[in-house]
Amino acid sequence: MVLELERPMISLRHVSRHYGPIRAVDDVTLDIAAGEFFSLLGPSGCGKTTLLRMLGGFDAPTFGEVFIDGKSMAGVPANRRPTNMVFQNYALFPHLSIRENVGYGLLNRKMTKAAVADRVAQALEMIRLGHLADRWPHQLSGGQRQRVALARALVCEPKVLLLDEPLGALDKKLRAEMQSELRRIQRAVGITFVLVTHDQEEALTLSDRIAIMSAGRPLQIGDPRSLYEAPENRAVAEFIGEMNFFRAEVQAVRPEGTSVRVDGLGDLTVATRGTVAAGSAVTLAMRPEKIVLSWERPPHTDGMIEGRVVSETYLGDRCQYGVAVANHAAPIRVVTQNNMPGAGRQQDRPVWLDYPREALLLLTM
Ligand SMILES: Nc1ncnc2c1ncn2[C@@H]1O[C@H](COP(=O)(O)OP(=O)(O)OP(=O)(O)O)[C@@H](O)[C@H]1O
Ligand SMILES: [Mg+2]
Repeated sequence: MVLELERPMISLRHVSRHYGPIRAVDDVTLDIAAGEFFSLLGPSGCGKTTLLRMLGGFDAPTFGEVFIDGKSMAGVPANRRPTNMVFQNYALFPHLSIRENVGYGLLNRKMTKAAVADRVAQALEMIRLGHLADRWPHQLSGGQRQRVALARALVCEPKVLLLDEPLGALDKKLRAEMQSELRRIQRAVGITFVLVTHDQEEALTLSDRIAIMSAGRPLQIGDPRSLYEAPENRAVAEFIGEMNFFRAEVQAVRPEGTSVRVDGLGDLTVATRGTVAAGSAVTLAMRPEKIVLSWERPPHTDGMIEGRVVSETYLGDRCQYGVAVANHAAPIRVVTQNNMPGAGRQQDRPVWLDYPREALLLLTM
């Protein structure tokens, strides 16, 4: 899928990177806009780092071409590219102070000492660590060191900042703080960010667009909402968030919708997506949080699914239930907000599930 952007900051054209028989990156064509926060999301080994390294000039494509700011990067080494990379292990120089660490990238530039000092002070202010400028790296927390690594990259004013799992080593709380920090900084400086992560929540929170990667190529590229609400195939639906899947057979395709016979749910009409023909096997998908669970039998149960709670997982603010229903092998997963006083021990209770029809997604692959 190629999005035609007016003036892309980054263009990949049929970019592949093979290691012997391994296609780490496999024929990727995509554009990233100037000022965009773009994430590469996918499981371990799907080629995220390899792709990022080719953008930064630390690796070269076996085939295809990378353009940054309109120029081909063929043969252009890392230090001549308008990019800067923040590596996962954010190695700071232990023998340099925070101020010197941040200023390091400016040493070889033709800048006056005062101009360098100014720029470093600005970058430290940006990451809110101005007061720690004279400390040593070992005197900072992991999150603070991570921010220094970020400042060190930003101070060079790259057009593109490449970030390889920059928050991977941080605990959950610090990670959330650093995420909003990253977003704030990206908005403030307006440069293009390409972030590699395998954390879907991180990608959803931060990104303008996300490429869901699998086996060296993007499965789908889109903004967080469309990836979550309208995944194009089962792999994407499975990778982002939780999903219930139902086997179904297409009965008829009409302008107002496609009618399908669904295991455990009966006959339904859903919005038509893609090309389907009567008789073909499809998958219906439904998010656990879009299902409405009633503990008491509702006055009208038409179209509802009756089941029995077989599992319960307490998640603090939410509860996840597994609900066994007739004619459907796997229990249906349902997530509810924990706003019921005294909830708990719901095992074996009969329940009724309702769902808005528009929450059902028809998947053909
Ligand atoms: N130098 C190399 N030589 C041989 N194979 C490599 C090399 N670098 C990467 N690979 C292979 O290419 C594939 C993609 O690797 P890559 O590091 O890009 O994955 P990743 O998506 O960044 O994974 P992770 O989330 O674990 O960091 C993997 O199968 C990996 O084993
Ligand atoms: Mg990696």
